[in-house]
Order: sequence, then C-alpha cells, then structure tokens
Amino acid sequence: MATSRRVLLKGRPVGEPRVEDFQVEDAPVPEPGPGQVLLRSIYLSLDPYMRGRMNEGPSYTGTPNPALGDVMVGGTVSEVVQSSSDRFAAGDFVTGAEGWRSHSVSSGAGLRKLDPKTAPISTALGVLGMPGMTAYVGLLDIGRPKSGETVVVSAAAGAVGSAVGQMAKIKGCRVIGVAGGRAKCEHVVKELGFDACVDYKSQDVYTALKLACPNGIDVYFDNVGGPVLDAVTKLINRDARIPICGLVSEYNATEPPRGPNLRPILFNRATVRGFIVSDHADRFADFIRDASRWVQAGQLRYREDIVEGIENAPRALIGLLRGENFGKRLIRVSSDPTRR
Ligand SMILES: NC(=O)c1ccc[n+]([C@@H]2O[C@H](COP(=O)([O-])OP(=O)(O)OC[C@H]3O[C@@H](n4cnc5c(N)ncnc54)[C@H](OP(=O)(O)O)[C@@H]3O)[C@@H](O)[C@H]2O)c1
Repeated sequence: MATSRRVLLKGRPVGEPRVEDFQVEDAPVPEPGPGQVLLRSIYLSLDPYMRGRMNEGPSYTGTPNPALGDVMVGGTVSEVVQSSSDRFAAGDFVTGAEGWRSHSVSSGAGLRKLDPKTAPISTALGVLGMPGMTAYVGLLDIGRPKSGETVVVSAAAGAVGSAVGQMAKIKGCRVIGVAGGRAKCEHVVKELGFDACVDYKSQDVYTALKLACPNGIDVYFDNVGGPVLDAVTKLINRDARIPICGLVSEYNATEPPRGPNLRPILFNRATVRGFIVSDHADRFADFIRDASRWVQAGQLRYREDIVEGIENAPRALIGLLRGENFGKRLIRVSSDPTRR
C-alpha cells in the first residue's frame, strides 16, 4: 500500500520550538471520495506565522490553532493525481493550504489552479503568493510611498522584505534594507537594487541608518519589531507611515518586549498601522496582475531557500525563526515535474 507522510503538532513550545514539539508520521495515502481530488504536495511553505499557530488559543485571524495531534497548517503547491471533480483534472497544479503532509484529499475549496508556463509553480508560495501580496498591500495601500521618499524595510533579504524594497524602487523611492549579516546585505544591494542595507548584527542600526537616510525616513515597513523599530522611529519624518507587518524578533519571546519610545510618533504625526494580509483579498487580482508583470520584466526578483523532505520541516521552521533562511523558505515535499 502506498504511504504518505505528515507532520503533527506534538507539543506547545515555550520560547523557541524544539524538534520534539513535532511528530513525523507515516500513514496510507488517503482515498478521494466523489467530487474530490487527491493531491500530491510538491512544495510546502514555511512562514514565521507558524510559530504563533503552535500556541494555545485562536490565531490572529480568528481561526483555531491546531490541537495537539493535528497536522501542522501551511500553504502548499500540489499536483492533482486523481480527480472526480469537474473543476480539476489529473495533472493540474494547484496552490492551497493543505498543511504539512505529502498527500491530501480536497473538495477543491480554497484551491487555485496554477499555470506553469507563466511562472515557476513554487512562486505561488512566495513572490506571487501570500508574502508578495503582503508586501504589495502593506507597502502600497498602508505605506503609500511617493516618488523621492525614503523607505526602510527590515528582514530585507526575506520573502516579504525583498519584495517590499523592490516595489518601493519601482515607485521611485530611495530604499534602505535592514538585514542580518554581510551576505544578505550584499544580496539586497547588488542583486535586488536597494540603495543601501544595514547589517543589524554588526552595525549600530541608528547610526548606520542616519548615515544612509540623510533626508530622514518616510515609510518604515516593519517585519521585526524590537530594537530595529526603536532605532527607526528616532529618524522618522513628519507624516511618516509605519505599516506593522510582523514582529519576528519577538515570536519566541517569553517576556513581553519593551515597546519603542512613542514621542517621535506623536511629534511627527506618524501613522502606525498593523495589517493582516488575509483582510485584503479584494486586492489579490491587482497584485497578481502587477507582480506577474514585474517578475517577467526582471524588476521583481526573488530568491528561494529550498529544504528537501517534509521530515525536515520542523528543523527548517526553527531555523527560519533564527534567520538561517536566505530567501523564501520552502520544503520540497516531492519532485517538481515542471522544473528540470
Ligand atoms: N501581516 C501579515 O499579514 C503578514 C504576512 C506575511 C508575513 N508577515 C510577517 O512578515 C515578516 C517577514 O516574513 P517572511 O515570510 O518574509 O519571513 P523571512 O523574512 O523570509 O524570514 C524571517 C526572517 O526574519 C529575520 N529575523 C529572525 N529573527 C530576527 C530577529 N531577532 N531580529 C530581526 N530579524 C530577525 C531573519 O532575517 P535576518 O537574517 O535578516 O535577521 C529571517 O530570515 C514576519 O514578521 C512575518 O510574520 C506578516
């Protein structure tokens, strides 16, 4: 009998997750019922939000977190291997949220068909998927950058940050990244076209940003919170916009973090706004149209960090939260027939 593999949530971590908080399990490949499809996962997306989904209670989108013993949640790209649905045929590629498992059965709800001729299918989890869409709505709708303004983005070499910086360049801004380590900073400047990048691990962020932003900061796209947010707020201009996208430096924290000094927010009449990408589904068609065009034109580049094998997902998620990924972190669950 053919077997499938899945990863279950086994423990609720305090602080950094451990591999013991997960359980890898083999089971028979599920049988699709009438109107259903059987999916073979090709890529699984690993994302920082998954740390929050390991906690007790509802997630920030209001959906319940997995119970202990449930399959971990996650975005996927899969191939339809069997179908009695009238929407999908065997051989179709789809993206959905099938979780940390090699095979799944679906009614088709929440699945979107992909065309491998227009872009590599893995991009549906990165630059042309949720992280790219997060960059698009967070920067364009909440950050509202104007040509000539200075935009700073943290976690600049990551999935969201790398797209934010390039979109800000497309909009005619001066763009400064903040990232951990020399290799990531070099990549952001040389490959992605940012104007400069501050290495928060080896430089004093406030001093380096002050030098890199002689006209102050108009938009700060925050992916990390913590001391970087604190340093940036000391340099913001009047009417600055600060989209709060993520606080990855705090996801494993066991103590409440110290907030930034709010004085510069008041004095500069700054707008600080948290946002969650799933509230902005009405912008998806605009995002796909614009981002696909930018990718094809070479204005929006992306880097993938692919780890082989679903059994390695726990370690790869722990590493992502430590900054070990360099680009969009994906698990290759099984072979990608569209990639030679
Ligand atoms: N609001 C939303 O709807 C939404 C949607 C998607 C993502 N997000 C958020 O966006 C942020 C980026 O997500 P992503 O998917 O693009 O992940 P990513 O940037 O590809 O990977 C996470 C990165 O965070 C950085 N990091 C880890 N620990 C850090 C620390 N202590 N201080 C500073 N940086 C640290 C690391 O980069 P360095 O090596 O450079 O430190 C790491 O590579 C996350 O906060 C995520 O939760 C929010």
